[in-house]
Amino acid sequence: MDKLNLLEKAKEIRERAYVPYSKFPVGAALLTKSGKLYLGCNIENAAYPVSLCAERVAIFKAISDGETEFEQLAVVADTDRPVSPCGSCRQVMSEFFDKKMEVHIGNLKNDLKTMTTEELLPYSFGPNDLT
Ligand code: THU
Repeated sequence: MDKLNLLEKAKEIRERAYVPYSKFPVGAALLTKSGKLYLGCNIENAAYPVSLCAERVAIFKAISDGETEFEQLAVVADTDRPVSPCGSCRQVMSEFFDKKMEVHIGNLKNDLKTMTTEELLPYSFGPNDLT
């Protein structure tokens, strides 16, 4: 699947976002190396910090399904520039994605920017730091 198709999948799931507080829907589409697609949207809560970003919903769905090998992720929101994933999502990406894995960030105008996990979170804290 190419990055524009992945972006379209992220746009589709964005429609399911539950965002009564921010009114800022986000969609994410995660492709595994085996070709499976996991979609996520942001889901908010009246207790605001409990809310979860679209990227982490997609990643946690995949991990809970036993997937560990990932190919690409696309994220989309209605932003002027390609949407910038939050710091918590970057940390979760660095836990589960290869340093060189491509993350496509985009917006509804199809501005698309591709960054690696490492570019999104350089010098990240990870499992090796705990040994
Ligand atoms: N949000 C995401 O889902 N992903 C991002 O990359 C940026 C922010 C969500 C969190 C919250 O539900 C809303 O967007 C506003 O911050």
